[in-house]
Amino acid sequence: MSEAPTLGSGVAVDTKLPPTSRLPRPLGALAFVASRRRSVEWLTRSCGRCVTVRVPVFGDAVLVADPALAKQVFTTSPDVLHNIQPNLSRLLGKGSVFGLEGAEHRRRRKLLTPPFHGKSIAAYERIVEEETMREMASWTEGVEFATLEPMMRITLNVILRAVFGADGAELRQLRELLPKWVTLGSRLSVLPTPTHPPGRWSPWARLASYRQTYESLIDNLVTRARQDPNLSERTDVLSLFLRSTYDDGTVMTRSEIGDELLALLAAGHETTASTLGWAFERISRHPEVLERLVAEAAGDGNTYRQATILEVQRNRTVIDFAGRHVAAPSYELGEWRLPQGFSIMVSLLQLHRDPQVYPDPERFDPQRFIDDKPSTYSWVPFGGGVRRCVGAAFANMEMDVVLRTVLRHFTIRTTTAPGEKWHSRGVAFTPKKGGRVVVFRRATPPG
Ligand code: HEM
Repeated sequence: MSEAPTLGSGVAVDTKLPPTSRLPRPLGALAFVASRRRSVEWLTRSCGRCVTVRVPVFGDAVLVADPALAKQVFTTSPDVLHNIQPNLSRLLGKGSVFGLEGAEHRRRRKLLTPPFHGKSIAAYERIVEEETMREMASWTEGVEFATLEPMMRITLNVILRAVFGADGAELRQLRELLPKWVTLGSRLSVLPTPTHPPGRWSPWARLASYRQTYESLIDNLVTRARQDPNLSERTDVLSLFLRSTYDDGTVMTRSEIGDELLALLAAGHETTASTLGWAFERISRHPEVLERLVAEAAGDGNTYRQATILEVQRNRTVIDFAGRHVAAPSYELGEWRLPQGFSIMVSLLQLHRDPQVYPDPERFDPQRFIDDKPSTYSWVPFGGGVRRCVGAAFANMEMDVVLRTVLRHFTIRTTTAPGEKWHSRGVAFTPKKGGRVVVFRRATPPG
């Protein structure tokens, strides 16, 4: 039990914090920065599945790797638990879903949900297939290459076309600008915000200049869409935003649209590409899995491919935690009581390695998800509750179509090389060498 801290209001509350590591704080912080994944693994192994930590950027926090507590966090009212601070809105702008809370967040989610569901998503499949075909056209047979790079280009182009509704000059310019911006933003997102105005040549100033260019490109896209006589038939998310109204009849402002499109890109591009990079890394090391996938891809079914995607997301989780912030005066988490201002970091990665839920968790085995469907609070690569990833179904469709298209047109050489190491790109974990494979074009691709 900890001593009672004093809250901002000056009122002391009783807190009961989970155990903490004996490591001196600076050393713990250093270990967290050096390898977040290993340090969380070590902490949960040595202190238990709920641990108090003090970490750079997020401050005082509780790490949660217990499925029951994770469920509690995800189902707690968003008035009690807000989004973790700081979050991506620090870099993307406060008008995006990441920066909204309470009623504002619910309102925005209501507007965001339709474009990312069922029928709307099916309309984007053609774009994913076209972009995959375009990318594969330049693949060289028999030469090892990192799949992560083409996957990054595919997921970027898919979002620019399906979400931004971009083509022509804007598509070209956004294609050039955004990877630089996302890479820099992803790195800076895990660093503290500078307290002094950033110098002219600092990375923060570079980030600001990327933003300026972005805003003018979005202006062009919005103007063009508004003038488009076919606006009512367009399926891109930008057009859906322009056509949607909130319940009170108001519409999204121009700056909210710019922030939200950027948020969708930042949240959906690198995450999906990294998971696909891991998918190639995994299946090239598991010949029996690859064989079943190839056989299935010749037809219309996708049961095994879906199970493989679920297993890649479990075994190589690219976003390691979903975070919340205690907004209420205090929060009872299981047997613990956390004070206002504490961060809660649900370790998605550790939940996926729980041997009680996933026997032999290190083993890569899609069969787990043929025999058993994923459980809402034990299979959580997309987080949970009211902030669960809005693009989960979109990402799933995209990964399914990319894998199907590649498997239909290429054979992938299997390898006995050890699995690639984990590499943190800031936000997402990728295979360290980029998911390297050797491919050969099929003599007779289907259809
Ligand atoms: C494999 C790919 C993806 C993974 C692993 C992933 C993972 C996540 C996770 C862990 C969260 C936080 C959830 C929470 O706090 O409980 C999240 C939020 C979010 N994701 Fe994804 N995501 C992926 C793809 C996408 C795509 C394709 C889009 C849209 C194009 C997207 C848009 C968002 C948005 C807007 C949020 C914020 C939701 C909110 O705060 O209400 N994501 N995602």
